[in-house]
Formats: sequence, C-alpha cells, structure tokens
Amino acid sequence: MIETHGLTKAFTARKRTVEAVRGLDLTVAPGELVALLGPNGAGKSTTLRMLTTLIAPTSGTARVAGYDVATQPQQVRRAIGYIGQGNGAGHNQRGRDELVSHGLAYGMSKASARSRADELVDSLDLTQVADRKVSSLSGGQRRRLDIAMGLIHAPALLFLDEPSTGLDPQNRANLQEHVVALRERYGTTVVLTTHYLDEADSLAERVVVIDHGRLVADDTPARLKADHAGDRITLAFDEVVDAANAAARIVRGHGDAEVEHAEREVVVRVASGARLAPAMLVDLQDAGLPARSVEVARPTLDDVFLNLTGRSLREGHTADQPATDQLDPIGVSA
Ligand SMILES: Nc1ncnc2c1ncn2[C@@H]1O[C@H](COP(=O)(O)OP(=O)(O)O)[C@@H](O)[C@H]1O
Ligand SMILES: [Mg+2]
Repeated sequence: MIETHGLTKAFTARKRTVEAVRGLDLTVAPGELVALLGPNGAGKSTTLRMLTTLIAPTSGTARVAGYDVATQPQQVRRAIGYIGQGNGAGHNQRGRDELVSHGLAYGMSKASARSRADELVDSLDLTQVADRKVSSLSGGQRRRLDIAMGLIHAPALLFLDEPSTGLDPQNRANLQEHVVALRERYGTTVVLTTHYLDEADSLAERVVVIDHGRLVADDTPARLKADHAGDRITLAFDEVVDAANAAARIVRGHGDAEVEHAEREVVVRVASGARLAPAMLVDLQDAGLPARSVEVARPTLDDVFLNLTGRSLREGHTADQPATDQLDPIGVSA
C-alpha cells in the first residue's frame, strides 16, 4: 500500500536548511494499522504531507496505493483519505451536509454520497451530532466527523495526523475504538501519527519510531520492547551506602544487566525482571543488604525511545503548532 525509498524533505527558510525527513524507507501492507511515533518536530507531518502529495519530496521515491506521488498525484489523491493536524474548525454547515458536500467534491453522486454519509454517521457514532452545526461540536465529535470526511469516498488508505492530540483521555479512548472498528469493518489501511506513547502501544500493530527525520525503529510494540528495552527492577534501600554496595554487587553478579543507582535507589534493567528479582533479593539479603521495597515494571515504548535516542519522549514535548493544510478534494478532478 505504501513503499518509500530514501524519502527526503529539506526545507530552506531564511538561508537555513532543515532536513525534516532524511532517507525514509517505509513499507506498509494493505490492511495494516501503523503509527508513526516521534517527538514534536521529528518529521511525522512532513512525511504524511509527502505521502498525500501535498508537498514534493526533495529526493527519494514514494508509491502510495500503487501510484507514484511525484508523477501520479491525482491517482494517489483519489485512493486516499487524509485528515491533517488541526483541520477545519468553524464550519457553518451541519455535520451531515458537510459530509455529503465532501463526497460530491470527490465526484460521488448525491445518492451515493448520502447513503455513504448515513453509513459513516452510524458507524462513527455521530447520530446525535450529524444535524448540528459543525462549529458547535466538541473536540471529540469534531475529530470523528473529520474521520468520516476522510472516509466518505471509501479510500483504501486513510492518513490521520495526530488524530487525538488535544482530546481528553476519555475522548481519545473513544476515538481509538472507532479507528479500530473502522478498520475491521472496511479493511481500510490506516497510517496515523502520534506522540502519545500509550496510543501507539495500544492501537497500532506496528510502530515506526521517527526521530530527527530518521526512522530509528520499525516493529510491533511487543517486539520493540523486547528488543530495545528490558524489564525494570527498582530496589529501595534504607541507606545510601547500602544502595551503592547493592548496585556494585548486582553488576558483579549480572554482567548483562544495566544498573544505575541514585541516592537510596537502584534501578536494574534486564530481559526478564520478574524471574530474576526473587533471587536477586535473596542474594542481597544474604550479603547484608536487605532491600526495603522492590518493584518490577514491564518496559514501555518510552523506554524503547530512550534506549534508541538517549532522550525521553515524555520530556520536552512542546505544544503542537497545528498546520492547517487539508487535502483539497476539488483538486482531484482538476
Ligand atoms: N514549511 C516548512 N518550512 C520550514 N520548516 C518546516 C516546514 N514544515 C516543517 N518544518 C520543519 O521540519 C521539521 C519537522 O516538522 P514536522 O514534520 O511538522 O514534525 P512533526 O509532525 O513530527 O512534529 C521541524 O523542524 C519543522 O520545524
Ligand atoms: Mg506534526
């Protein structure tokens, strides 16, 4: 459904060049639900905008739904739906009418646009809001309507740029359920971007981690965690000196473990923490270094990101500057 080779985009502004996307090789199979995960400025939106033909790559190639983005942009556009970051607020139309006009712009007949709109209103839980003005909808309702708009012409492939940014956790969970249900119902291939770790983890079958315009990892959440981050055993001690001695002892006993200590705490990263922890506690006890408490945690995608980039995705995430571009459906027939 998607195949890119060395996809690159450099922006030049005020004599400074920003390499937003650097040599991206990406493959997405039909029916997959893939998340591009990365911090603000990683190049996620730029990647989506190249794949949706909104901007031209500086170099490299991309085929989307079987068509080349550079030489067959009209065909690409007809085959995809795209919901950009912070798309169209403040519409005066009713939700259902907005959907139908969107379908007409894609060249659908009035009858088929209407029946498709009814179907999407139903499957995206928009019955309560379809007859209200778009401008009066809540953020979560608006996002669901956006998704319905992206699906009106039954595209094989749907791109969603940060679909849940700005939504509260409950609306986010609700939106995620709808994305999964849609995929099951229509078999639509979905590529979305997110900087929410939990979203990438729970929603996507495959996570493509992007940092500074480069692909740094590409796998299922489970395999990313298994390959790039271990379990975390956190041991607390009564005395700082005990923590230091315990850390040294663990380093000697477990060559493959990554051990850090600060103050009264020791953090050990190993492949199978739950299996290792009991023996470790007994050994420390025997050495006169009893731990006051112990906690074993499974790795998160943030641990993966930290491991791959040396930085946490949680820290330093500034507010998004939503780009207000939208794939102009009129352009399809132009
Ligand atoms: N039109 C543009 N002109 C100049 N720089 C841009 C433009 N669009 C994006 N960038 C820069 O490219 C980098 C990647 O941006 P973007 O793709 O929006 O990241 P993300 O969506 O992951 O937050 C950033 O450094 C951003 O400032
Ligand atoms: Mg973005």
